[in-house]
Amino acid sequence: FGGLMVESSDQNQEILLSLARVKYWDHYDLLQYQGFWCPSVFIHGIIAFQKHFQALDSDIMLITFPKSGTTWLKALVYTIVNRTRHGLESSPLVTINPHELVPFIDAHLYVQNQSPDLEGFPTPRIFGTHMPYASLPHSILNTNCRIIYLCRNPLDQFISEWHFFHRVQGTQTKGIHSLDEVFEMICQGIQSFGPFWEHVLGYWEASLEYPNKILFLKYEDLKEDNLFYVKKIADFLRCPFSKEEEIQGVVEEISKFCSFENMTNLEVNKSGRLMGNGPENNIYFRKGEVGDWKNYLTPSMLGCLEKLMEEKLGGSGLTF
Ligand code: A3P
Repeated sequence: FGGLMVESSDQNQEILLSLARVKYWDHYDLLQYQGFWCPSVFIHGIIAFQKHFQALDSDIMLITFPKSGTTWLKALVYTIVNRTRHGLESSPLVTINPHELVPFIDAHLYVQNQSPDLEGFPTPRIFGTHMPYASLPHSILNTNCRIIYLCRNPLDQFISEWHFFHRVQGTQTKGIHSLDEVFEMICQGIQSFGPFWEHVLGYWEASLEYPNKILFLKYEDLKEDNLFYVKKIADFLRCPFSKEEEIQGVVEEISKFCSFENMTNLEVNKSGRLMGNGPENNIYFRKGEVGDWKNYLTPSMLGCLEKLMEEKLGGSGLTF
């Protein structure tokens, strides 16, 4: 936590040492911070984000539970918002991965630099984060900045996360866990930014209370009726498609451009690396399907998770 120690080191270090810690994957510990399991590699960025971030009314925050379609949402929102600046064929997304164009504000910008230069971002600024609602910086809640939240059926989310860590770590490391082991942890709420049910419920309830501020989306819905949600996102962000645009098929074009098929076929996402020397961009794309959990989970695992979700989400009106 080198960066953290530079800034009010004693106080922050004391906080960190007092937090419960579990080993999740190799070189990837989770700390129990403010009621959620925070990857230790991001904690100093998260604390700096909470302390210093000043939201603008025009900001757009894309908030997701990990492995729920963040990459897709970033591509969609970036394209919708910037559609009059350039045609799709000259979109920066053709040569730059969505996570580079729409960075994670805490896990990327504030991790790299305790006071990042956010002035240079074009308006509206679009940032990503996985932070739970209860831990968001106050200025996000006190300004008119908008939040788009995306989550996913926990069964597919779990399978996606499991594959993601295997791909990131490779098969040679000793920290590889079996599906059963990770499943056990997830059922206890132990996963990046978990518990899952607290994360989704936080945003679900807030979206019911502040529907103009928070748009709550599910991956499965985006898959099923993408055109409807492309329009809904544009309406929510106060940049609705005009009649002419609709007639010209702009909604369809954006949807197709951001589709799994198109994004995975772009050279940058096939062979590029994040920021040039980071992880391979292709780790953010796997199958892009609904229901892949059926190929992995036993009936008893399914029963366990269904029971757990009923217990945690029952009565909230939120179902998966
Ligand atoms: P699978 O592992 O089930 O294939 P995140 O972007 O939050 O890390 O989520 C990754 C998941 O979203 C992966 O799911 C990935 O394949 C899927 N995904 C990435 N881009 C997508 C797109 N354009 N359309 C649909 N799904 C996409």
